[in-house]
Amino acid sequence: MNQALHSAARRLIIALDYPNAAEAGQLITQLEGIPCYMKVGMQLFYTAGPDFIRELKSRGYSVFLDLKMHDIPNTVKGGAHSITRLGVDMFNVHAAGGRQMMAAAAAGMEQALQEDSSLQRPLLIAVTQLTSTSQETMNQDIGIPGKVEDTVVRYAQMARESGLDGVVSSPLEGPAIKQMCGHSFITVTPGVRPAGSDAGDQSRIMTPGQAMAAGNDYLVVGRPITGAKDPRQSAEQIIEEMSVHVND
Ligand code: C5P
Repeated sequence: MNQALHSAARRLIIALDYPNAAEAGQLITQLEGIPCYMKVGMQLFYTAGPDFIRELKSRGYSVFLDLKMHDIPNTVKGGAHSITRLGVDMFNVHAAGGRQMMAAAAAGMEQALQEDSSLQRPLLIAVTQLTSTSQETMNQDIGIPGKVEDTVVRYAQMARESGLDGVVSSPLEGPAIKQMCGHSFITVTPGVRPAGSDAGDQSRIMTPGQAMAAGNDYLVVGRPITGAKDPRQSAEQIIEEMSVHVND
């Protein structure tokens, strides 16, 4: 794999949305050697646990532990401490938990790093508004007035001011977030679909090339890879498309 492909692969996060370690294991074996991230969400983590995270790390993958913490600051601080000790590369909290909660997550991470200098610093990111949240749900159920994009950008700014590294957002919101928070503030974007593939339940989508060209940093891709006849070939095609727009 040449340098451009290697850099692009480091920015691809594959969503391991599987019910158990055995099923996820088949995919991680098929993709062995590709230096991408694997995203472990609550479905898999609640059955496979820390052992599975260690398995991914031992196979050379980077790990995004997507548990979307949202609780009182003290509890989130403890959660962030435990997650950092697992040696993950990226984890997240809900921006809706507020500044104090996000700062507590950062403090929990710092504490773990100080206690064990062999640990690497993970990226700590905030979930803004889930892409499944419509304006109607946000306005009427959650009680936040206005447009979803305005809340996303406001949450991103709050996350940056709380010391976080970036946010999860739709690929379309990346440019507005970068404009408000600066280029080095990271955007991690699901809702990515290669041209011609099934959109599934994702609505505001971009192709891998478009999402990178829009300035986003990491792309989260699930079903276009996990549901492909040849997942390795699908991942390699996506990486190739991304590589055109990666210049590090
Ligand atoms: O299969 P697909 O590519 O749609 O998977 C996208 C992944 O990103 C899933 O794991 C989903 O939970 C996650 N995600 C999302 N939208 C968000 C936050 C996370 O699709 N706003």
